[in-house]
Amino acid sequence: MSERLAIDGGSPIISDPLPSTGGGPGVSCIGDEEVQAVEAVLRTGKLFRFVDDSRVRAFEAAACARLGRKHGLMVNSGTSALVCALQGVGVGPGDEVIVPGYTYIATAAAVVACGAVPVIAEIDESLGLDPRDVEAKVTPQTRAVVPVYMQGVPARISDLMAVCRRHGLAVVEDCCQCIGGEYFGKPVGSIGDAGAWSLNYFKIITCGEGGLVVTDDYGVHERACFASDPALPMWMKETIATDGWGEPPFSANCFRPSELLGALALVQLGRLDAILAHTRAMKRTFLSGLAEPRHYVRQHVDDPDGDCGISAAIIVSDPDLVGRFADALTAEGLPCGAAHSDSFPDRHIYRYWDSILQKRSHHAAASPWTHPAYAGSVTYSQDMCPKTLDLLGRALRFGFNMKTQTHHAEAMAAAVNKVDRCL
Ligand SMILES: Cc1ncc(COP(=O)(O)O)c(C=O)c1O
Repeated sequence: MSERLAIDGGSPIISDPLPSTGGGPGVSCIGDEEVQAVEAVLRTGKLFRFVDDSRVRAFEAAACARLGRKHGLMVNSGTSALVCALQGVGVGPGDEVIVPGYTYIATAAAVVACGAVPVIAEIDESLGLDPRDVEAKVTPQTRAVVPVYMQGVPARISDLMAVCRRHGLAVVEDCCQCIGGEYFGKPVGSIGDAGAWSLNYFKIITCGEGGLVVTDDYGVHERACFASDPALPMWMKETIATDGWGEPPFSANCFRPSELLGALALVQLGRLDAILAHTRAMKRTFLSGLAEPRHYVRQHVDDPDGDCGISAAIIVSDPDLVGRFADALTAEGLPCGAAHSDSFPDRHIYRYWDSILQKRSHHAAASPWTHPAYAGSVTYSQDMCPKTLDLLGRALRFGFNMKTQTHHAEAMAAAVNKVDRCL
């Protein structure tokens, strides 16, 4: 008897709903240790980060040790971390910063918050920045590039670094979705001039809201510190051994985290290896269950061992087949849809970054695009990165969470195989 797709009345491969979790892997692991760590801080009443035995300091030190970075600064969000990192490497009015067309809007918004102009570049089959398009978009105004590692997958960082070094550009790695990721043995966040983590509710580890900036360059760190707290020079003496400032402190925002965030983040960091061991095992099981594809290619991953394993993507070859492929998978019990579709204005796709595309900033006179220091002429349009829209319009993404079990990952692969066979 010939095989029938569930969408055509056959039996679905997956009959029980796949397990889902509200937030990211980190939040699913919150347990007694987190509760005790937060309670301990509350009982001391010492919620401010500049205290003896600071939990924030302990988190910064543990994260730096893990990444092999010299300096770490915890802040209150991933967006703040990007702003501090960009200001740390010297980005400001007159500068352009290249970001991928596929990233959360915060990456581009952080550039605007520094007074600089985001330049939106194409992604490639890695679903990360396309090094060739980055090179094509370098202008005399370009100051920095922000490679983003979406859904736990490091981008083509080796090629991107080569382009950036050729043109003397700073690199700020946006690791917000890739905490614990590696690139041929080197932790992401330790490759560029600075790296940024987000610890929000949806991330691989979380403290509810939080972020981290890491760098090896003391000057970058010091500037990131100034960018995070206008009174910081007052407190910094206690936290950073310095005989004086590398440059005079400047005033910016306050992105200071509380000790509660530090305590939570520190416990979660201790869970990172166990989280990654699980998600990586699930992704490996899924990938090894896939048959030779007929109608798709897999997302390109330079170093599969360094991938965090929280997602896998396939890119359907024929754009006209994507809808049917996704609907058929959903009917088989593997709910999915194209990463880009007209039905959902996903703020992870540049096309829906209205405030950026319309060049809106908080005050007309502060607009990076009309600032007297800006000699460039960047223009935006919804279809300016056709390759990005094409790839995301054909990309189907599957997630692996802390409740995913081996049999789920095997069934997910079986569902993909069945649909690919039968279409
Ligand atoms: C790629 C990326 N960059 C930056 C951010 C901003 O992080 P946060 O929400 O902590 O400000 C996020 C958060 O979703 C993200 O996914």
